[in-house]
Amino acid sequence: MKVTVIGAGTMGRGIAQVFAQAGNQVILSDVYEKALDTALKEIRKSLDKLHAKGLIKESPDTVMARIKTTMDLKEGTGSEVFVEAVLERFDIKEKLYGQLNELAGNNSLIASNTSSISINALSAAIRRPENFIGLHFFNPVPVMKLVEIIRGERTSEETLKRSLDIVKNLGKDPVTSKDFPGFISNRILMPLIREATLTLEQGVATKEDIDKTLKLGMNHPMGPLELADFIGLDVVYDIMRVLYAEFGDPRFMPPVTLRNLVSSGKLGRKNGEGFYRY
Ligand code: CAA
Repeated sequence: MKVTVIGAGTMGRGIAQVFAQAGNQVILSDVYEKALDTALKEIRKSLDKLHAKGLIKESPDTVMARIKTTMDLKEGTGSEVFVEAVLERFDIKEKLYGQLNELAGNNSLIASNTSSISINALSAAIRRPENFIGLHFFNPVPVMKLVEIIRGERTSEETLKRSLDIVKNLGKDPVTSKDFPGFISNRILMPLIREATLTLEQGVATKEDIDKTLKLGMNHPMGPLELADFIGLDVVYDIMRVLYAEFGDPRFMPPVTLRNLVSSGKLGRKNGEGFYRY
């Protein structure tokens, strides 16, 4: 089937890759040409790794040939599925949905990869909200098995069923969540990262020992501070702020240390420094 992924950042390009691996024709669209170039390079690197390990049977060339990058969203016309993975800003998503309403057919499924914005709130900008759903992927998308499916009040049973099939077809394992702040994953993950940050802030232990505790004591692949750097401290801070605003509960209150790192431009792995230096 034809699938259009909008937004070629870390998540969008990973999503485009797994759809192409599953045999779909993918249009990957972004407003920045540089993002599209980087996306193709990163997808290639990832496919090479997976192929070398025998995790994908087809050659990277064959999979790459299914991905077309473009700055013209109209090339997505006629797609059965649209996956939006643009910046986590309501106004940007809302504006984009206005364009998607023109391109999507009556039966096109429109999914958002949002990690913290309400699916019900976003659905107000969609002409056929019954075809709209949240499909929340995890970074790195080609490796992580989970997709969180978020059903809005107006999402149809048919759209939920199609989404479950799509996710399974990608070789992923879905969970379904109601549209509640943070869904399942970030509602549980953010208090963990927050508590780890407060443990550091209160001088209880070093960052290395905090991370080591979760890695060696609980078998997490990364400690919470390392994971926060991996997600991006700006992203973590934004999600915490949304959760704190919506629940009004101090267990989601962003720690000052996190605010200070973000406001001083230390955003984690992506720009070389966060809790750690890279
Ligand atoms: N494509 C293909 N393969 C990849 C890859 C990619 N993009 N990224 C990593 N890999 C592979 C590596 O090649 C490596 O393979 P081998 O073990 O065969 O060598 C394997 O994955 C492990 O990678 P590394 O050896 O580099 O390092 P690692 O063992 O630390 O694993 C990791 C990296 C998979 C990221 C692991 O550390 C991990 O699972 N971390 C937790 C990630 C996580 O929690 N992600 C979710 C974040 S939350 C989110 O995304 C949503 C949100 O809303 C905030």
